[in-house]
Amino acid sequence: MNLHPDHLGPASSLLRTSELSGFHKLSLDDRRARLAELVGLTERELDMLSADGGLSDEQANRMVENVLGVMSLPLGLCVNLRVDGRDRLVPMAIEEPSVVAAASFASKLLRAGGGVTCAVSAPHMIGQIQLLDVPDVARAEAAVLAARAELLADANAGHPSLVAAGGGAIDLEVHHLAPMTELSGSFDDPYGPMMIVHLVADVRDAMGANAINTMCERIAPRICELTGGRDGLKILSNLTDRRTVIARGQVPFSALEGRGGGSPAELARGIAEASVFAERDPYRACTHNKGIMNGVDSVLVAFGQDFRAVEAGAHAYAARTGRYTALARWRVEGDFLVGVLEMPLAVGTVGGVARVHPTVKVARRVAEIESAAELAAVTAAVGLAQNLSALRAMVAEGIQRGHMRMHARNVAVEAGATGELIQEVAERIASQRNVNLVAAKAALAAIDGQRRAASTIPPLYAASSGAVTLVERFRILRDRYWPEMEELTATLVRSATPAGSTLVEMCDYHMETGGKRLRALLPLLVGEALGVEARRMVPFGAACEMLHNATLVHDDLQDGDMFRRGRMTVWNRYGMPQAVNLGDAMFYFAVLLTQRLDAPALRREQATRLLVSETLRVIDGQEREFHLKGKPQVSLEDYFTMVEGKTSGLFALPMAGAATLCDAEEVLCLGLAEAARHMGVLFQIQDDTLDLYGDKGREQRGSDIAEGKRSALVVHALATAGASDAAWLRELLDRDRAATSQAEIDRAIELLARVGSLRFALDEMARRKALALAVPAIEARPELQALVRGMCDLFMKPIEPLFDRA
Ligand code: MEV
Repeated sequence: MNLHPDHLGPASSLLRTSELSGFHKLSLDDRRARLAELVGLTERELDMLSADGGLSDEQANRMVENVLGVMSLPLGLCVNLRVDGRDRLVPMAIEEPSVVAAASFASKLLRAGGGVTCAVSAPHMIGQIQLLDVPDVARAEAAVLAARAELLADANAGHPSLVAAGGGAIDLEVHHLAPMTELSGSFDDPYGPMMIVHLVADVRDAMGANAINTMCERIAPRICELTGGRDGLKILSNLTDRRTVIARGQVPFSALEGRGGGSPAELARGIAEASVFAERDPYRACTHNKGIMNGVDSVLVAFGQDFRAVEAGAHAYAARTGRYTALARWRVEGDFLVGVLEMPLAVGTVGGVARVHPTVKVARRVAEIESAAELAAVTAAVGLAQNLSALRAMVAEGIQRGHMRMHARNVAVEAGATGELIQEVAERIASQRNVNLVAAKAALAAIDGQRRAASTIPPLYAASSGAVTLVERFRILRDRYWPEMEELTATLVRSATPAGSTLVEMCDYHMETGGKRLRALLPLLVGEALGVEARRMVPFGAACEMLHNATLVHDDLQDGDMFRRGRMTVWNRYGMPQAVNLGDAMFYFAVLLTQRLDAPALRREQATRLLVSETLRVIDGQEREFHLKGKPQVSLEDYFTMVEGKTSGLFALPMAGAATLCDAEEVLCLGLAEAARHMGVLFQIQDDTLDLYGDKGREQRGSDIAEGKRSALVVHALATAGASDAAWLRELLDRDRAATSQAEIDRAIELLARVGSLRFALDEMARRKALALAVPAIEARPELQALVRGMCDLFMKPIEPLFDRA
């Protein structure tokens, strides 16, 4: 291998996989950190990737003339790519939105078929020497060919380093150009015949322009002598048809499942038809090839290549038969969609900009590129992926959708959205297909209002019903005691963490997302029902709320939720490791809050112990939920066990814990825990049902289906629906969230109602309420029973219309 001394590539690959799921969800800093970790970049190399870290003014000033500064472009990372059995992360420099995402997406499809394989030809380039006024072209041609060895030796003498690297001039050819006539395409060609000598050279790892031009200039005088003609141009040809790459990739139908456009077979056929359209028609071929060059050029720019040369060569190659056609073609072969891209690719890893540009050096480290052949293969593979992605998008959903999403972000910024609101506003207006300033402003105002409302009790709860008094009491307690709890929490968090800890900032940030503070106030309500002053429960309420929020921080991370009440979730803002750290810390803050209780040591100890045991039940429930997602058959029993941990634990703690602190008898404490178990299930089924049949103000109706969540209704449907309905539903749930359309979600919602799952959910809620009220220790205490009834009614309030309809 021929490496330039500046070469920075690692001797062996550090990268185990290019499949970086969730990479796009990370913050910019976290993406850089993750990349550095994956490929072993130094701080200095990382700096080269930042806006002010690349090419310096001085370097730019030495590169071209009349320099004014440096023009920057976004640098994205194509993930998921596998080329010739090796995973590659490929930097791409491009201003056009969606290109990097599209390349990454299609790379994922192609890796399902084993990745892209490439045949890279030898690096043979052609230089042209134009000869005019040659008196006898036949004798001239014979003379040149007879002097072949002498001419090649002379050319090589002008480039000893190339010869030393194993390359050099290898062949000479003679071509003749007759004047053009009307038939061959021009009326205006006043000159006589021309003789063109092609010098073919192996340029190894160089792009080769300099070597070829030098050689041509060197041998031209001797060729003039041999032919008796006059030399004109002596220059490399960018139609590098002897330096090509053939990239081949295949996508199994199974990987096309759920990628839009009907069944995988229909989608594959649509892509093949789109390909043939381009193969037949130059108007379409030009755009088809432009899509390929989106990928190719952005890799070339990131690697400091002469992308104009490759562009020119690619289009000339596309027209080499005399008819401009597609560079890549797709066909259906059995259960596979197979694509082949063939194009000239003259790239270099020695000489040129690659030698001086700091960002290019880092790009090569990231993609672990060690030779021009590797760079050519990777570039072609990205081109093939880019083409696949564009065709799939057009066949499946129309290209505007993806473009719209990016445009929507710009409109959101124009409307005044900042920070995490940009994404949220953009998603709203894009999903409403209403991407304009007025819609963006309206969405911004709506999100703002929703955020504020999220921190107050939903007006729904205040509607006239048996729950009104409870709601009013709830509001009074909240106004009176929540500020105290907030203050206690803030003081504890600050005193429990070392000075300057980011945990404080992150904890404040998360707590500011608001919430109804149900877990905080439940102990106060229980205390009142047992005749104990609410204030005594304040530290315990704060502990319960802290615990609840600790689980939310981890839950958001596990579910990949980007926003909570219109704010970026902790992991989304601070990164995944920090969300783990904060959630962990918050569990301990909750424990410490129980130590602030003004209660006898034994009671404090009991409250702490209960907090720890309920926390473990919640964690166990979370773990079970994770497990259920991957399980082919989930029983209702599995579901209830999961919810009785995950959801009920966070009701059992405030209720039974408060009773303990009020010195209630054990049977009552256990009774409250039992009632809480049913209330938790009721609450969870209500939440599951609301997601599907209510208006919860979520971004998307049925988002649980898109996430593949095994909700009560889904578990019931999978167990009761007919085999084909169940198989369809299971496949939909297992699909990527992004690949699930609203129409499919609506179909699933309709299916759940049709097979009786909605009815089951409503009946189960009514049953759980009756069970909670019938717990003997609760039945015996009218105030507590009223509280439990009021809570159950509150939980069911948002879906009351469903009960009325059913
Ligand atoms: C847009 O930059 C590229 C496409 O037009 C390519 C194509 O039509 O194949 C989407």
